[in-house]
Amino acid sequence: MITTRQNFDLTAMTTFAIPAKCGCFIEYDIPEDIPFILSTLRHDVDFVHIGGGSNLLFTHDFPGVVAHSAIKGIEIVEEDPAGVKVKVGAGEKMDDFIRWACDRELWGVENLSGIPGEVGASAVQNVGAYGSEAADAIVEVNAYDREKGEFVTIPCEECRYGYRDSIFKRPELRGCYIIHSVVYRLTATPSPKIDYPALRERFQEPPQSPTQVRDAVIAVRDSKLPDPADTPSAGSFFKNPVIDDATLRHIIEVEGNESFPHYAVDGGWKIPAAWLIDRCGWKGRREGNVGVWHLQPLVIVNPERKATASEVIALEQRIKDSVMNRYGVTLTPEVEHI
Ligand code: EPU
Repeated sequence: MITTRQNFDLTAMTTFAIPAKCGCFIEYDIPEDIPFILSTLRHDVDFVHIGGGSNLLFTHDFPGVVAHSAIKGIEIVEEDPAGVKVKVGAGEKMDDFIRWACDRELWGVENLSGIPGEVGASAVQNVGAYGSEAADAIVEVNAYDREKGEFVTIPCEECRYGYRDSIFKRPELRGCYIIHSVVYRLTATPSPKIDYPALRERFQEPPQSPTQVRDAVIAVRDSKLPDPADTPSAGSFFKNPVIDDATLRHIIEVEGNESFPHYAVDGGWKIPAAWLIDRCGWKGRREGNVGVWHLQPLVIVNPERKATASEVIALEQRIKDSVMNRYGVTLTPEVEHI
């Protein structure tokens, strides 16, 4: 079924709870609705497809059309002694799918427990946490290709997954694919990944079930991240930057030592944005109706649900400026600005 609403308030459609309206909001629940909806769009009207809204900031009212998939379903499509392939509807909540997998003793996505958002978006954003990312378990992505005008299956290797990145985010392919389901591979053989320090310290012995890992991940998240039900946010607001040798040397000079967190990656050094923001004194700070989370400064919060997009953008800019002035590092937002 397709439902259409005009002049729709999107505030409740994003976890940030920042007010914005759209010209028209469309929700649908079967893949076949996608080409039909696209055929009704006027060429002069902007179109954007959203997921669970956990990584989005509407910077203004959006006069165009916003679509959302309510396609559900978690279905085992292939099974062998080693594990299963599961097709999951784009509109399923990612954490509902993870709980489903853990309840069946299937491993592969338990480290992503508690991540807000929906399955379709997990394949766009390559969500990641605690040593895992969605791409580790994605087999293929089923989508409607707007350019070809047909349904396509894109194998994981062709999605070019990287840190919070995929072909679905490339500017030239933006909006080209509308994902309707994602096939995940889950294994029956225990394969716990608990190298992440905050996770490892919760286990005296190796975990026996994915639910044990799930519970530990949720406990770590709860200790650092705001509860989306009480304190609206869009999760990590910035990406962890990769810097070059000269910038690393500059930070060492500013700090007077090199005992801050940084590690070698392709193309330079990765450094936690949380550390940079923390050192610039932002942790727990309030600016009007917006604030920086007191336990994880990577998260911008809307504590009383009163913040506007312009307040968020002003705070974002002040944080970026202070990190640039002190360390010469450019922070880029992880949160998508529409
Ligand atoms: N740190 C500080 N001060 C703090 C918090 C952290 O200096 O108050 C430094 C510490 O050195 C810490 C480092 O930052 O070791 C990294 O912190 P954390 O382990 O919390 O992870 P992160 O890199 O800040 C990333 C993801 C999170 C994910 C965690 C856990 C990004 C942008 N964020 O954060 O994802 O939960 O790792 O794996 O990569 C999200 O995307 O919305 C999200 C929450």
